[in-house]
Amino acid sequence: MTAEGARGAALGAGLALAAGLGVAGLGLAGLSVAGPAQADAAASGRALYETHCQSCHQFDGGGVPNFQPSLLDSVLVAAEPRTLAAYVLQGTADLPDTARAYNNVMPSFRHLSDAEVARLLRYVRGDLAGVDDAEPVTPEAVAEARAGLD
Ligand code: HEC
Repeated sequence: MTAEGARGAALGAGLALAAGLGVAGLGLAGLSVAGPAQADAAASGRALYETHCQSCHQFDGGGVPNFQPSLLDSVLVAAEPRTLAAYVLQGTADLPDTARAYNNVMPSFRHLSDAEVARLLRYVRGDLAGVDDAEPVTPEAVAEARAGLD
């Protein structure tokens, strides 16, 4: 085998190994997700926030300038529950670039249940943003918001 051939073979083996590790990694990730996903059924609003929102909106909800907005002084967070729930269920990834104000996009959260979204948003509104909640976010409001999406 020439030096070139040996390098090529070594590279090929390296790629195959990397691909194999990738698959193994996915397998492990798949397994580890099963636990927390089930635990989420009873997770607190704070735990749900930490799992699904904190990486972008930060621990205190303060956001990151230009990347994701603060949730603390947000008109949307203080809006009527169905409006807020519809925004969070939908995310911004499907919106055209021109409809987005920030450099990052927000994923959809339709995979969360109505009860989870309600609990999570009560935490965001009450505990983080300090919205005086005359109209708390209920699972019913989230269900109505969901029904209004296409
Ligand atoms: C991957 C990053 C990311 C994650 C995760 C994320 N968001 Fe966002 N969020 C964004 C970005 C970016 C925007 C601004 C979108 C735009 O208008 O350009 C945003 C906007 C918002 C807004 C509107 C704020 C305003 O005043 O305009 C709310 C409310 C919100 N997010 C809540 C949440 C909640 C609740 C979660 C968790 C369920 C969450 N986000 C998870 C990135 C994220």
